[in-house]
Amino acid sequence: MAMITTFSFPTKIIFGPGALDHLSAAVHEIGGKRPLLVTDKGVIASGIVEQIQTKLKQANLNSAIFDEVASNPVEANVAAGVACYKDATCDCLIAVGGGSPLDMGKAIALMSTHAWPMEQYDDKIDGWQRITSNVPRVITIPTTAGTGSEVGRSAVITLKSTQRKTVIFSPNLMPRVALCDPMLTLKLPPKLTAATGMDALTHCLEAYVSKGYHPMCDGIALQGLKLIARSLVRAVEHGEDLEARSDMMMAASMGAVAFQKGLGVCHSLAHPLSTIAGLHHGLANAIMLPYVLAFNQSAVAERLADVAAALTGDRTRNAADIISEMNKRIGIPARLSEVGVRREQIPALTEQAFEDACHLLNPRPVAKEDLRALYEAAM
Ligand SMILES: [Fe+2]
Repeated sequence: MAMITTFSFPTKIIFGPGALDHLSAAVHEIGGKRPLLVTDKGVIASGIVEQIQTKLKQANLNSAIFDEVASNPVEANVAAGVACYKDATCDCLIAVGGGSPLDMGKAIALMSTHAWPMEQYDDKIDGWQRITSNVPRVITIPTTAGTGSEVGRSAVITLKSTQRKTVIFSPNLMPRVALCDPMLTLKLPPKLTAATGMDALTHCLEAYVSKGYHPMCDGIALQGLKLIARSLVRAVEHGEDLEARSDMMMAASMGAVAFQKGLGVCHSLAHPLSTIAGLHHGLANAIMLPYVLAFNQSAVAERLADVAAALTGDRTRNAADIISEMNKRIGIPARLSEVGVRREQIPALTEQAFEDACHLLNPRPVAKEDLRALYEAAM
């Protein structure tokens, strides 16, 4: 093995029911005095933000709130967030919510100290080289179990110039502390539990089969799949099952740790389904995944047998079939046409998917025609 690879797992994770009680200690730990809470209106309606503000006040910490975060965040949200951060003279960020507010927290942190236009930080053009360590510190509090953004080092934002979901990636964007409290997910409705859970599953699965040498991430990905196999259906069917919710929250973080290795074509197909057809990110991944696995089968048969073993204990089972059955069980449709995607959108979807960087690490090389064929198969 002549190649040198870098492995890093540095985010401090405080995990478990009641982890939220460690918030003010975490703010002190990162040297923060005036945090900006980045969240969205749904999280505010759930009462979680109020709970957080009370805890901060008890520790004599005055916070400001920014909640203009679209469900698929756009560049204008980032600019508004930076203005809010500066106006309120904040010195750190607490991002609370699903993937969108968590990604926004990181993007606001970046753009509060970095002057290039956002497209200059696009991972596709090695934008990470422009990202210095001069980024305010971020604490993350996930309220869904899916994106794993709480421990991830990337933010996905739709840019104004391209209207494309763009990955901004740098170890300097990594949150300092993640407070993972599964109690915050007990009230998540079944549909959202299913879609976000399948995002976590897709992260573990795509990371495990993606190109690259990363046995540490491989191990984490397989264990994440085992937790999801044990608990996703339970979390969907019995939302108040704390053990199932804990497994899912852990698996979500594991998925994001694992995908520092890379993702694959499923995420390239999913990103345009959000920007062009408005699909939830997890739902888009869930629908596309069986078709992607059928496409990848010949290139990574051994690895997909490992996946089948992690999910069912049976290496001889077909991974695509397992995922299709799982989708059905948790109420996810098998076809894009069932969620309002139209055939005439396929050319635009295909163009954007090809521009997306995730498929570059897919185990089987992906041509533009393959992307079109995958969308058509899923119609
Ligand atoms: Fe994802």
